[in-house]
Amino acid sequence: MKKARYYLEKAQKEGFAIGQFNFSDFTQVKGIVGKAVELKSPIILGTSEGESNFFGLEEAVALRDVLRKKFNLPIFLNLDHGKSFEYLKQAIDAGYDMVHFDGSKLPLEENIEITKQVVKYAHKKGVTVEGEVGRLGTDSSTIYLEKFEIKEEYLTKPDEALRFVKETKVDLLAVSIGNFHGIEASGIDPNLRLDVLRAVKAKTGNIFLVLHGGSGTPEDDIKEAIKIGIEKININTELRLAFSGNLRRALNNNPEEITPYKFLPDAQKSVEGVVNRKIGLFGSAGRV
Ligand code: 13P
Repeated sequence: MKKARYYLEKAQKEGFAIGQFNFSDFTQVKGIVGKAVELKSPIILGTSEGESNFFGLEEAVALRDVLRKKFNLPIFLNLDHGKSFEYLKQAIDAGYDMVHFDGSKLPLEENIEITKQVVKYAHKKGVTVEGEVGRLGTDSSTIYLEKFEIKEEYLTKPDEALRFVKETKVDLLAVSIGNFHGIEASGIDPNLRLDVLRAVKAKTGNIFLVLHGGSGTPEDDIKEAIKIGIEKININTELRLAFSGNLRRALNNNPEEITPYKFLPDAQKSVEGVVNRKIGLFGSAGRV
């Protein structure tokens, strides 16, 4: 199986983005991978520290291996928003393909130092590393009732991005361009700062750029961001909403139903629906 880098380079050359879809449960994985198989799309399965603590690092790796073999599909596993070298080392040792060190809340110097340490360890083992410069201002998947305000000082500064990329030698860079984790209650987030993305891209050249907080982002902005140079887009909140909402309704509407294999297939379908739309939007169908 070709490495994640091969597909990221393909995305850069051909102008599409690869979706990272987060999970913490097998039914979600069935929905994500099932749809990717149908659409012949490369995909990245993501687990945050919390998600992988629940699911198990070794278990996630074993599942990726089984599914890759069964479907002969480029499925990659990324440790999303790792907060320490130690945790990312565990994920690398377990067999993750990619790791993301999120030092975005640290002073730049410290972010650079720890990211360098991660890169040194990861690259020895052929693992791809994502770093992050600029803050998203939110930590987890939430529905914001108030209009979400992006703080100007949190946006990625092109000069800092360039310095970070040069010094750390990361493979991918997550940027803060008006994106945030979660969605606004209206379901449509404020517009991305495409001007900031253009400026970062102009400075950083061929580094792969990552858009976090892909849920709820206006679709035209996503398309434009891919054209400018985003190669990976992370989705979590919309998957969680679809999955949990479906389960909640199914169990409430039918309190006597206790058999998981009878009520879970619908929850799986709701995940498939989200993945179907995102793969269509990202343009990754048929790119295996
Ligand atoms: P959303 O929850 O907004 O989709 O963001 C997911 C994400 O960026 C995971 O890293």
